[in-house]
Amino acid sequence: MDYHNPQWQSSMRIRLDINNTLRTVVGAHGIDPADIHAMAAAAGAALADIEANRAHLGWPDLPAQDISAILAAAQKVMHVENFVVLGIGGSALGNIAVQSALNHPFYNDQPRGTRTHPRLYVIDNSDPDLNAALIETLDPASTVYNVISKSGTTAETMSSFLAVREHLIKTLGPNALKEHVIVTTDPSSGFMRQIGLREGLPMLELPPNVGGRFSVLTTVGLLSAAVTGVDIRALLAGAAYGYQIASNPDVMKNPAALAAIVNLLCAKQGQNMVVMMPYSHHLRHISDWFAQLWAESLGKKTSLSGETVNVGTTPIRALGATDQHSQVQLYVEGPFDKLVNFIAVDTFAHSVTIPSAYSDLEGVAYLGGHTFNELINAEQQATAIALNDAGRPNMTHTLPAINAFTIGQLFMLLEMQTAIAGALLNINTFDQPGVEAGKIATYALLGREGFGERRAAIAAARARRSAQWEV
Ligand code: PA5
Repeated sequence: MDYHNPQWQSSMRIRLDINNTLRTVVGAHGIDPADIHAMAAAAGAALADIEANRAHLGWPDLPAQDISAILAAAQKVMHVENFVVLGIGGSALGNIAVQSALNHPFYNDQPRGTRTHPRLYVIDNSDPDLNAALIETLDPASTVYNVISKSGTTAETMSSFLAVREHLIKTLGPNALKEHVIVTTDPSSGFMRQIGLREGLPMLELPPNVGGRFSVLTTVGLLSAAVTGVDIRALLAGAAYGYQIASNPDVMKNPAALAAIVNLLCAKQGQNMVVMMPYSHHLRHISDWFAQLWAESLGKKTSLSGETVNVGTTPIRALGATDQHSQVQLYVEGPFDKLVNFIAVDTFAHSVTIPSAYSDLEGVAYLGGHTFNELINAEQQATAIALNDAGRPNMTHTLPAINAFTIGQLFMLLEMQTAIAGALLNINTFDQPGVEAGKIATYALLGREGFGERRAAIAAARARRSAQWEV
């Protein structure tokens, strides 16, 4: 992969096709191209603003970061069997997306030898069964745990850490933490930082200005990627290329700006859900990562000028071809409230021919001699055709191939799309008061010091509930 060669880079450029969102293709529920042009100036201003503030935002500059500490930390854990991320939301979803996009579909099941790097597990839930299984299943002696929390306070992550900590001390003795825990957290604040310092744990810092959902290309996502053998330099080179494309001031040639405009125009006409539907098993968790990025960034009550706006469109996670047999019926015939965003792949790593057999059974015989590659791409095109015929707007990002460069590029394109959409909505893309509200209520319910007032308010609200409505 010659990811510094400009010719190779342009051969790996992700393409965006928005034809199927237009009225000329899908009819009355499509977009008038004049409306796209009308938003171009505002999108151009948003781009200029992002460029002017890139140092403050942090994430656009991540491709140029120094990754030596990450590579050194990864090198130190190469010998272990299991690398376990304890994190949630922005401190987990990117890790999962990179792992499933770039490593073998059965990576953890491959025997050591075929798999040259540690297994990866991501524990991103306070589910007791999951946490019990983590403790029961993995041999702590050959496991390293990466506790990732930007704030260093998140209850789910802290609880998993406390469980792992006790298990390590019980099984391997009081000094085990230093050998088996790596902390990734804010460089100056948070309880996890205090714990790391107190216990003398190895710590990686993440840039304080980069929010969780924009942090996949920081120490948050890059350490587990490097530990599992992903070429993180290529990932960052792809992100740099993505920024180059997505910061093009010519909005009509800028896929991130056009995608942001199309999403907002669709939302204006009632298509207030966006279905992210990659046709690739490797890309299935990109939808999960995107769902958080889009939902947390754009789902906002208040505009920057202080008005109540309650904006945002709902991301839906889907997977082609699997969900053709589950959700597509709704997308084709249900309410006109969705924009479908396909992700297609030109060239898969394998070309697999479907064997010919049963020549007398025409319903089976036609498959023989085609490839799975042809089949999955035909299925994507067929779903787009069905949507077109039913008057449903849809658009397609196409990756020439799946590799670290295109995945880094895709992350940056979608981050830029989100930032541009947020600017066009005149909201703060980078805060998450709704998430904080849930965290605060959890602290109150569990009796954390300082949250007594909130606990009393919750108890008062509960007292007003009526038994009549609990059946
Ligand atoms: O995007 C966000 O800010 C959130 O989803 C956080 O990533 C999530 O709440 C976890 O937070 P933290 O990394 O502080 O533990």
